[in-house]
Amino acid sequence: MDKFVIEGGRPLYGEIEVQSAKNAVLPLLAAAVLTEERVAIHKCPRITDVLNMAQILCELGCKTKFEGDTLVIDGAQAANHEIPAALAKELRSSVFMLGSVVARFGKARIAYPGGCDIGLRPIDLHLNGLRRLGVSVTEDGGYIDCTCEEIEGAEVVLDCPSVGATENIMLASVTARGTTVIRNAAKEPEIVDLQNFLNCMGGKVAGAGTSTVIIEGVKKLHGAEYTPIPDRIEAGTFLIASAMCGGELTLHNADADNLASLLHKLREISCKITAKDDKIYIKSGMRFSPKIIETSPYPGFPTDLQAPMCALACICEGSTVVVENLFETRFKHVPELIRMGADVTVRGRSAFIRGVKALHGADVFASDLRGGAALTLAAISAEGLSAVSDLSYIDRGYSDFEYKLRSVGARIRRVRV
Ligand code: EPZ
Repeated sequence: MDKFVIEGGRPLYGEIEVQSAKNAVLPLLAAAVLTEERVAIHKCPRITDVLNMAQILCELGCKTKFEGDTLVIDGAQAANHEIPAALAKELRSSVFMLGSVVARFGKARIAYPGGCDIGLRPIDLHLNGLRRLGVSVTEDGGYIDCTCEEIEGAEVVLDCPSVGATENIMLASVTARGTTVIRNAAKEPEIVDLQNFLNCMGGKVAGAGTSTVIIEGVKKLHGAEYTPIPDRIEAGTFLIASAMCGGELTLHNADADNLASLLHKLREISCKITAKDDKIYIKSGMRFSPKIIETSPYPGFPTDLQAPMCALACICEGSTVVVENLFETRFKHVPELIRMGADVTVRGRSAFIRGVKALHGADVFASDLRGGAALTLAAISAEGLSAVSDLSYIDRGYSDFEYKLRSVGARIRRVRV
């Protein structure tokens, strides 16, 4: 189990290249199963979730390999419809393999998906959406079995704008007979990226980014090359790091339009932020309290930046209330922040934070991806020495995290224990 050893308290100055979006790449890899032709995903981050997803494709019979930073997938030989439980449990996004595998083979079998332990994470919307498309779905002994002669387009209304369910239904219906309309669809930028990729493959998808996505089924999809959108959550993590540590950062390959809710909050606490083309520049300010942070589906404040924002609020002047509306248990970073001197009280889905002047170093433990990032930011801003353990979570979603932070002045190194 690796850990970061960090000597905190230094400002961050310099430039960071943001990776392609983890939560865009994962559904693109699922989409690669829909064609027998070659698919190339450029600027593909070598993070654990992507490597595990590529391994799932290999288990299905696809060939995958990295050519530089391009991940090439050849699905010609794919023939297996079962996703091994060990891999399915590694990541949440295994569940949207269901849509593409049942669309390709007429059947699919998967164990219940894994992913960060941030809540119940049901998949009822995924399964009911597939049923609306004529897929027979049975659940038995922790496995889900799907069968369908021919997927039929239909109207699917989602009880809540689930990102994964929207993507799963798009993947299942892109080669269906007839047209599918998804209502109350998620509007995240990663959904738009999936639409654009499917259309590059010959699909006919429209409306992504709004609450109604329309998929006109086509007979066949061909191969495609594609560069995913920048990772707005990684970019947001570095912007929050700057606000916490002081200094000036320029992010490259960053899309400010996809981060409007965070930029608004950071400007509120007196950060100076400008954006031009694919760059975002930030100069930290006085760190006034953001008062309230409420997570909500896009374009609201992203739940994936809630933990890093909690860490920032811990050292802002004044009190902040953070409300987590999407997941039931996404405050596991709070007890670790308290060990660093934070003053936080959690009641249900709300965290009441009273800002302190500075955190102090401590040995802390991550229990999910974004919580791990939050603890790392807290440690690089804190006075003194810290250790952040179990980097397996961070490695799922952040490529070269410590190198990027060290390149702008953080004293952070990875130690194998
Ligand atoms: C995606 O997860 C992201 N993961 C998550 O990022 C992100 O936090 C989440 O969307 C919300 O933005 C990937 O894209 C791989 P949801 P997903 O379905 O699809 C409820 C990260 O750190 N729901 O939009 O699992 C669910 O309980 C990860 O990068 C149902 O009730 O999220 C939650 O309250 C963590 N039934 C809400 O919807 C369902 O069938 C949002 O979940 C599905 C979801």
